[in-house]
Amino acid sequence: MQPKVSIVGAGPAGFALAADLERSGTNVLIYSHPTHLRHAGYVIKNGYLTASGIIQGSVSLKVTCDMSDVVHFSTTIILTVPSTGQETVLQEMKKFCLRQHSIIAIPGNLFALIADAEMEVGHIFETNLSPYSCRMNEGSLIVLGKKSRFFIASLEKDLCPTVKDKIQGIFPMELKWCSSVIEVSLLNVNGVFHPLMMLMNAGRIESTSGDFLLYHDGLTRSVANAMIAVDKVRIQIGEAFGLRLKSAIEVSNECYGHTFTDLVDLAQNSKPHNKLKAPADIENRNISEDVPDLLVSWHDLAEKLGIDASPIKAVIILAYMATGVDYMKTGRNLQKLHLEDFSRNELIERFSPISHGLRR
Ligand SMILES: NC(=O)c1ccc[n+]([C@@H]2O[C@H](COP(=O)([O-])OP(=O)(O)OC[C@H]3O[C@@H](n4cnc5c(N)ncnc54)[C@H](OP(=O)(O)O)[C@@H]3O)[C@@H](O)[C@H]2O)c1
Repeated sequence: MQPKVSIVGAGPAGFALAADLERSGTNVLIYSHPTHLRHAGYVIKNGYLTASGIIQGSVSLKVTCDMSDVVHFSTTIILTVPSTGQETVLQEMKKFCLRQHSIIAIPGNLFALIADAEMEVGHIFETNLSPYSCRMNEGSLIVLGKKSRFFIASLEKDLCPTVKDKIQGIFPMELKWCSSVIEVSLLNVNGVFHPLMMLMNAGRIESTSGDFLLYHDGLTRSVANAMIAVDKVRIQIGEAFGLRLKSAIEVSNECYGHTFTDLVDLAQNSKPHNKLKAPADIENRNISEDVPDLLVSWHDLAEKLGIDASPIKAVIILAYMATGVDYMKTGRNLQKLHLEDFSRNELIERFSPISHGLRR
């Protein structure tokens, strides 16, 4: 029987995955929230999606705005809304019994900890990144890059290998299994790249309305140095959990199959990155998603673990000063992640691979 997958989130990442899966024989239903039809509106009107770049051609896609269609279409639901939209779709999904379903949040940014407290789901998984680097304009999808592999974790400690095989069978790229959702969130290196690239280029973004290449022109040596300071904190958080995390450049190289020597080399020479234009203003998810849902959780974890988080705190405070949004309050702090009552040792015990018998 033809495999079936529901995708919740009708933006470039959801449509790229939908197009790739349909082409390889999976039957896909894509959901757009009825008040978030910016891209889906064109696809619904045309009846098909046009793709260029790494994925090419027209793909017929079924699109719905009704969550009951999603739940009945498949027991595999892949979320491709930004983490700032996860709460909205969670409220819709909560209306249904999902004990037989698996939800895979791409990327998760610790979605599993929030969803687990709100509803009962068969399995919850989350990934570090989107497998595609892509943009969309008036219903046309441009896929600039496709990762060779990306990282995934389950909320459950001892996941049965057949479930892992089933999840791997959905995706046309290699999944690398992490020991916990904390590990996979620490591997979302967008938290290292995006906020600093935006904030250290804020004047240029605003004076040119984003008319420059964000990585190629904006990720220069001093920006890279600031990123490396944030990256060191991320790696130290991993160490406290007994994890040997790779640096941001190594994680990016692993996902894309690249061999760049440092961040500036990547910015200059990586094809999925070096032609990306800057956003038109700083009210963009590079800040509004990655600061509250990655940096705030990393910051709070670091503080709980007794790690000096000042480089991350500096970025969060600068984002607050620039935008007026108090991300420490609005973001995924330990309270929102239902971890505020954990002691340092309890946190390590729950998420460390040693306590899972998974030390690698
Ligand atoms: N695109 C990439 O190259 C790329 C690369 C790496 C990681 N990612 C990550 O992958 C995820 C999806 O990326 P994307 O480019 O597809 O994002 P997107 O276009 O910003 O959003 C995806 C979809 O979610 C909808 N949405 C946004 N906020 C919502 C909310 N509050 N409630 C319900 N729906 C909402 C959007 O609708 P509207 O646009 O109408 O609001 C859109 O249909 C993000 O977390 C992103 O950071 C993407």
